[in-house]
Amino acid sequence: MDLSEIVADIAAEMAEAPDRGTPADYIPALAGIDPQRFGIAIVEADGGCHLAGDAEESFSIQSISKVFALTLALGAVGDQLWRRVGREPSGTAFNSIVQLETEHGIPRNPFINAGAIVVADVLLGGYEPREAIGEMLRFVRALAGEDDIVIDAAVAQAEMETGHRNQALAHYMRAFGNLHHPVDRVLGVYFHFCALAMSCRQLALAGRYLMARGINPGTGRSVVSPQRARRINALMMSCGHYDGSGEFAFRVGLPGKSGVGGGILAIVPGRASIAVWSPGLNARGNSQLGTLALERLVQRTGWSVFDPQAG
Ligand code: DON
Repeated sequence: MDLSEIVADIAAEMAEAPDRGTPADYIPALAGIDPQRFGIAIVEADGGCHLAGDAEESFSIQSISKVFALTLALGAVGDQLWRRVGREPSGTAFNSIVQLETEHGIPRNPFINAGAIVVADVLLGGYEPREAIGEMLRFVRALAGEDDIVIDAAVAQAEMETGHRNQALAHYMRAFGNLHHPVDRVLGVYFHFCALAMSCRQLALAGRYLMARGINPGTGRSVVSPQRARRINALMMSCGHYDGSGEFAFRVGLPGKSGVGGGILAIVPGRASIAVWSPGLNARGNSQLGTLALERLVQRTGWSVFDPQAG
């Protein structure tokens, strides 16, 4: 199997795709991104790296940061986290508020906005927001083994000014006692996590611990236990694409996490960490061509968590 040829073929097909979705415009700093962009990166368990298209171009990883934030929060407080955040798919939009009322301010899972805001509150702990943000930046740089990963302050600022839904979610949860720090401090942390800017190559490198039983292959050090890596993958599969998670599992069959910047991180346990990026989104806020590209990739490789011997 020639993965370099496969990613080149996929990038060529995506360059011609007529239906590219629509870039998110509710975050002003993201609205102007060219929907023609497409990148794909595969990092294999043995270190092989295959890139095509705009795989070296930085984009806003947005909600993909929720995977790294969850990993840090589990490291900080362990299973106590699950007293404040659920582990069920929501079946509602990423920024929905409806379930919070009947479920007493406990978000369904850590990958919807409400859940990630609680995770940010946990990571704020007794720290200053800039310390929690710096910790995340150090963590992601160490995962990828690259020191030039940055947070795009303009994107974070744009969300601070326009993120009224997130403000509403945060205040609502604070009213239920499920946010321990002031809303503006928690959201400052949350928005800066979302504003991490990474290329597909960097993102695929950062995701390696999830394909490698919790070990960062770049350093040989444990990031999380094998059990925790499995569980994070399980949550990505069940909740990583919001109300599109069932469809993503059906079409792609891999744990995946999307972001409104148009990126998706997908994991083939034991084999590969994959990042795709194309800014146009489908109706559920997930990358239109990113999803199609992953579907093509699994068709060509046979990769699926439901048939681990294939491929
Ligand atoms: O809070 C927000 O709305 C964004 N910073 C992140 C949302 C997101 O990426 C949802 N993904 N599809």
